[in-house]
Amino acid sequence: MAISLALPPRYRSASIWLLYAVGLIPGLYYFYQGVFGDLGADPVRTFEHLLGLWALRFLCLTLLVTPVRDLFRVNLLAYRRALGLLAFYYVLAHFAVYLTLDRGLIFSSILGDITKRYYIIIGMLCLLMLIPLALTSNRWSIRRLGSRWATLHKLIYPVIAGAALHYALSLKSITLEPVFYISVVVLLLAYRVMRPKIMAWKSQNRARGTARQATS
Ligand code: HEM
Repeated sequence: MAISLALPPRYRSASIWLLYAVGLIPGLYYFYQGVFGDLGADPVRTFEHLLGLWALRFLCLTLLVTPVRDLFRVNLLAYRRALGLLAFYYVLAHFAVYLTLDRGLIFSSILGDITKRYYIIIGMLCLLMLIPLALTSNRWSIRRLGSRWATLHKLIYPVIAGAALHYALSLKSITLEPVFYISVVVLLLAYRVMRPKIMAWKSQNRARGTARQATS
């Protein structure tokens, strides 16, 4: 049986709200630093980068919930929706900074950027795919969409793969940080591919254990 790290029902919604509040702190802190001139020589770029990085971190955390439950029997399902929505809010903020502070809402500049830098198109596709996921991250949609909900939410895999590609293509030089995040994404996607085999192997082992106990 998996250990549920969600608090008892009466504290659960408070703990989820706490996660939202804590999750938004980095973004608000960078905003504060930006306003007071503490974001270095190129504050717009730095702000944009940091928001993008947090978007990727929350996407990774959202996808970590299933392997953590499968492999370590720790159930964090109650927090998955908040993690996914936090990822979405950071992507939106990253995009808003790009449109306003970076490109100054100048349409020709954005268009020129899209034709020159393909990773911008990939980023935009990721954002577009995240919109239906964010809009249907509620109980009402789960009930209404039935089995189609799970199919729709598989979009999270092309989103995270696209986000890693977007990150890799945006790099001017390779450092340990992108190598780390891109490796995490590759591992998460590889786990997803291998999951049916891993689960079958685990249940076979469990059945063998139960049979051994019954005969001893
Ligand atoms: C799921 C969606 C997205 C994720 C997870 C994401 C994440 C990232 C990450 C991690 C970086 C690199 C930060 C660094 O250098 O440390 C980055 C860079 C960047 N992203 Fe995104 N991004 C997304 C969508 C978008 C969108 C929609 C746009 C704009 C249309 C965009 C525009 C940019 C730009 C302009 C850069 C900086 C490139 C440079 O250094 O010049 N991103 N993004």
